[in-house]
Formats: sequence, C-alpha cells, structure tokens
Amino acid sequence: SAQLNQLAKAAGKLYFGTATDNGELGNEQYVKILSDTKEFGQLVPSNGQKWFAIEPELGVFNFTYGEVVTKLAKKNKQMLRCHNLVWHSQLAPWVDSLTWSKKNLTEALIRHVTAEAKHWKGQCYAWDVLNEALNEDGTYRNDTFLQVLGPSYIEIAFRAAAAADPHAKLYYNDYNIESPNAKSASVRKNIVGMLQKAGVKIDGVGLQSHFIVGSTPTIDEQISTMRSYEKMGMEVAITELDVRLEEPETAANLAQQSLDYKSSVGACMQVDGCVGITVWDFWDPVSWVPDVFTGFGSATLYFANFTKHPAYYGVVEALKNN
Ligand code: G3I
Repeated sequence: SAQLNQLAKAAGKLYFGTATDNGELGNEQYVKILSDTKEFGQLVPSNGQKWFAIEPELGVFNFTYGEVVTKLAKKNKQMLRCHNLVWHSQLAPWVDSLTWSKKNLTEALIRHVTAEAKHWKGQCYAWDVLNEALNEDGTYRNDTFLQVLGPSYIEIAFRAAAAADPHAKLYYNDYNIESPNAKSASVRKNIVGMLQKAGVKIDGVGLQSHFIVGSTPTIDEQISTMRSYEKMGMEVAITELDVRLEEPETAANLAQQSLDYKSSVGACMQVDGCVGITVWDFWDPVSWVPDVFTGFGSATLYFANFTKHPAYYGVVEALKNN
C-alpha cells in the first residue's frame, strides 16, 4: 500500500519527512524505514545543527555531529530541513556566560549564522533561522540575545542567513502557534511583519505541532492559522509533528491519536501554502516526549516493535483525501 512521502507528493506537497539523530542510526530496522524515500522524502537532524554542537567554544566550529544526518539525506536523495541557527536552548554555554557589548554579540551572532549557513549552503531546502523566540503571551523571550541587542537580533540573524545561503527558505519556527492565540498573533506582528517592514527576507513559518491526544487544535483552527501566515506571503510547514498520550496505550487513546494526526495533516492538505509535513521522529523508543513529560509517550507513528500506530493510517487517510 502507498506510503507517506509517496502520498504527500502525489497530493502536490514537496515532502513528508522526519527528524532523526545520530544515536538512532545503529538500528538497522530503523534506518531501513528512515531511508525509504517512499516513506520519508526529507530529513532534519534533531540535535546535530544546534549551537552547542556547531560552535562549542567562541569562534571554534565543528560540523561533524550535524553532518551525519545531512550526509545520510544526501546519500538517500532526501530533502533537508536544517534546524536551527539561533535558539535560546541548547546554546553553547559561553553565549550565556560571557559579558557582552552590543558590538561583540552582534559580531558573534553574525559569525555563527554565517559560518553555519555557509557550511551547508545549497543543501538545505529550508533553515529554521530562529526558533522559539516568543513567550506564550506574545512578548519576545528574554534570552541573552534580546537582553543585549533587543529585537534587532532577529533582523541581524535573518540578514546573515540570507547573505550566506541565498537559496534556502528562511523560516521562523515555534510551538503553540498552530491556533488563534496571542503567540500566533505575535508571529505575524513581531516576527513576520517586523522583518517585512525592515525589508528583511523571511520565507516561511514552521508550525512545530507538538500536540496532546484529545487536545489538539481543531482542523479549522489549524487551517485558519496557516492561512493567516500565508496571507502575509509566507509558506508554512508542519515541522515537528507528534501527538503524545498519557500511558498506558489503550484502544481509545490510540484511536483519538489517529484523529489528531489526521486533523493536522489534513489541515496542511487544505492549505496550498503548506509545503510539507515533518514528524519529530517516527519511532516511540527515540521520541523526546517521555524524557520531558512524565507519564506521557507513544507519541510517534511506529511502536517499539516497528508495527504501525493506528495514527499511521490516520495520516494515510488525510494524505489521500486532498
Ligand atoms: O548529548 C548528551 C549526551 O552526552 C548524554 O549522555 C545524554 C544523557 O541524557 O544527553 C545528551 O543530550 C541530550 C540531547 O537531546 C542530545 O541527545 C539532552 O539530554 C536532551 O535534553 C536533548 O533533547 C533534545 C531537546 O530538543 C532539547 O530541548 C531532543 O533530543 C530534541 O528532539 C528536542 O528537539 C526540540 C526542537 O529542537 C525544538 N522544538 C522542540 C523539540 C522537542 O523538545
């Protein structure tokens, strides 16, 4: 039967993809599914391109962690989403601990973004230039970049990315921006609108879509929010989809999970500007969820024994009914 990337492409999307990480690539059965381009047409490293890995010491660059997944994608002829250039979390400790002047942090930020984006120049379909820069109430997150540079750090990062890799689509990526709320309004005003006013290139909004079984936003909420970004000239993508459930798995929560996956993928199907869907890994044992949310898990499309969740078939249905 038809598989996820096959169906997504038949429906006019660019890809159906997944996140993955170096530690998972020792499992043969996992890698076989990961590398099957009928299933996944796009990869993204879940950790290997983050600041702590890329520039562990000021001015010292190391691309080896990220290259494992990006080279695998190249070998498999899969598209790449690249993640991420600027984020308050998983930063190298020196960024938060040094005492910065505006001039010095501006230089360090430009150097980081330029070196990383140049390293993968021409290989990334899209870069998450900036990740999770907003609070739930829509205000800017008060991280080191904001404290030293104010919101201008956002413009600095996008300008440097555009100069370093002119053909990559430049994205803002965040969670809880998939439905109408203060945060999604702020994406429009304080990220996309602000950059457009300043004449800075931004091409897309990434909706992470880390959801909870039974409390996923409705399909209509997801569609209208995607369209609100599309109306500003943005493309959109579902970038980190997973739907966690409270253990144990039951027939009921797995059935609801299937509906939840189906409504997110279905929303993307309804919006022309939604270019693709990426799940934040596809195999329960390697999902980030149980490490962070006690009592929750089973958030992906494949069980530990590599059989498929009912949600896999919910996704198939959504990809078929476009
Ligand atoms: O590298 C160390 C390793 O040396 C150590 O032995 C091991 C022991 O726990 O930890 C390893 O670091 C872990 C790292 O992933 C690399 O595997 C961290 O503990 C762990 O916290 C970290 O989690 C990542 C998380 O981001 C951090 O916030 C997840 O794998 C990654 O999937 C997750 O991805 C984020 C996106 O980037 C942004 N959106 C949310 C999403 C989920 O949190």
